[in-house]
Formats: sequence, C-alpha cells, structure tokens
Amino acid sequence: MILVTGATGLSGQMIVRELAQNHVPARALIRSARKASATGLDKLAGIDAIEGDMRGGDDVKAALGGVTRVLLISSGTPDMRETQCGFIDLCRQVGVQHVVKFSGAESGVGFDPAMFRFTRMHEEIEDHLEAAGPAWTHLRPSQFMQVYLRETSTMSRDGELRLPLADIELAPVAIEDIAKVACRLLRDGGHQGESLDMTGPEALTMHEVAERISAATGRPVRYVPISWDERRRALLASGAPADFVDALGEQLQERLRRPKSRVHLATHDAFGVRPTSFAEFARTYARAFSG
Ligand SMILES: NC(=O)c1ccc[n+]([C@@H]2O[C@H](COP(=O)([O-])OP(=O)(O)OC[C@H]3O[C@@H](n4cnc5c(N)ncnc54)[C@H](OP(=O)(O)O)[C@@H]3O)[C@@H](O)[C@H]2O)c1
Repeated sequence: MILVTGATGLSGQMIVRELAQNHVPARALIRSARKASATGLDKLAGIDAIEGDMRGGDDVKAALGGVTRVLLISSGTPDMRETQCGFIDLCRQVGVQHVVKFSGAESGVGFDPAMFRFTRMHEEIEDHLEAAGPAWTHLRPSQFMQVYLRETSTMSRDGELRLPLADIELAPVAIEDIAKVACRLLRDGGHQGESLDMTGPEALTMHEVAERISAATGRPVRYVPISWDERRRALLASGAPADFVDALGEQLQERLRRPKSRVHLATHDAFGVRPTSFAEFARTYARAFSG
C-alpha cells in the first residue's frame, strides 16, 4: 500500500489524481474531511482519503498500517523540519520500507543552506531520512510552473508580470511532469538511495515567460522588473505570512547570486516522461492566466 501526505496541497493533489487515473490504489492523508470533499479527493476511484495530522496521534498511525511506500510532502511552514522528521520516525516504527521525500532542486545547484531556510530544512530532513532506516529517494523539483498563476491579477489587470527577478533565468517544471514521475516511482519502486532532480526543458528569463503567456492568452503581458521592497509589500498586503515572505527574500538573494539556471531532464528520461514546455503549460492554463 502507498500513502501520500500533503494530499490536499498543490503538488500532492495532482500526484493523487495521477495515481487514481493510472488505477494505482493509494491512501491520501488529509487534515480535514472538509478539504477532502472540497478538493474531490474523497471521490477518486481507488483512493482512500484518511484524516490525520502528520505530527502524530493514533489516526496517523492507523493511516500507516500496512503501508510499504510513502510520499512525504508538507507545507513550507516554519515547522516543516519537525513535522517531516517526526513523520519519518513514525514510518520507521511501523515498518514502512521506502520513503520518497518531496524536496527542492536548490541543493543540487549549490544554494547555500545557511542563506535560504527551505534549502536548509529540506537538507536536514533528507539527512534525517537517510539515517532513519527505511530505503529513501529524494524527488527534487525546481520552481513549479504553476507559481506564475499567482501573478494573474496584475497580468490581467495591467498586462504586467511584476517580479524582482532582474534578468536571471529559471527553469520551472510543470507539476504534471512531477506527478507522472511520482506516480511511476510509487507504483514501481526502485531508485532507492537516489536524488532525482527535475527541471523544465528550458531556462527562461522573465521576459521569455511573459512572452509565452502573451502568446497563449492572446493578450499582451510584459515583464516589469521591480525591487524586493515593492514585492515584499505586495506579498504582505495579499496576506502572505511574514515568515514565508522572509523565506522568499532569502530565495531571491540566492537566485540573484546564481543568475543562470541549468536544465536537468535525466529524471524525465529515466521515467519516460515527456517534458512540458512553458509554452504548452501556458496554453493549458490560458483561461486561468486571463483571469
Ligand atoms: N513552490 C515551488 O515552486 C516548489 C518547488 C520545489 C519544491 N517545493 C516544495 O514542495 C513541497 C510541497 O509544496 P506544495 O506547494 O505542494 O505545498 P502546499 O500546497 O502548501 O501543500 C502542503 C500540504 O501539506 C499538508 N500538511 C501540512 N502540514 C501537515 C500536517 N501536520 N499534517 C497533515 N498534512 C499537513 C497541507 O495540508 P492542508 O491543506 O490541511 O494545509 C497540504 O496538503 C514543499 O516542501 C516545497 O518546499 C516547492
């Protein structure tokens, strides 16, 4: 049996749907029945949505009963390390054989863990898992293409993609591609003791990202480089938690320090997944990008 945590989140939800579409039975750990029903996870064939908090308790132990392989995802919150390390300990106690840790690609490209808290936390969780006992695999995607959907309001209102990314390049990956890899890895196993980095097929400047969104929506969008101060104020005004905004500030400094992004498609190749280009992604989400 397979268990996916973080199943109501951006990546977890897509991975659980991919499992269901491929008739791979699995359990989805969710924090509230209301969310399971709002996301439709409780209606997917072959998916058992089970309530439980990863930080422990009888419900989560029951959810792990008979589970051999786990996909470990939780939110980018200050307690991520404690939540995931505690869950790894539970996996060891109940005899889970293989834990796939959903991580980030920054470690593989030399982000300084002392400078960016998510690189630091992911590395500490990876280290904890490697020492814990169950077999492990680290799935390390780069920036999700889907993060650009969060910029829809200024793009549809002003025709502007306003980000503090100067002229740097990023190689975002579609979550759909990650979901296909995760589904095949959870279903077939293998790749134990491997770190599977994933990026999208192109390193793009924000001018190129804006061009591709314009082409897909048929509405002009141009990239406007802004200062971190302006971005920070906009994020806080939109309700983003202050600690998350601080983390994004750290990530920005690391990105500006390493302005070129690599393209790494070995994981796509190993799992037979065709890389989704940003142009294709933008066409698929053209309605959402149009607001
Ligand atoms: N954003 C990117 O571009 C990017 C790129 C590479 C890697 N990543 C990494 O990818 C990971 C997942 O990101 P995401 O955007 O998919 O996350 P997300 O949308 O924030 O989802 C997190 C999920 O974890 C669940 N969760 C958190 N704490 C829990 C707990 N104690 N018990 C049970 N469930 C819990 C949440 O449940 P609720 O719905 O109940 O809150 C939610 O389902 C993060 O570690 C992030 O660092 C992100």
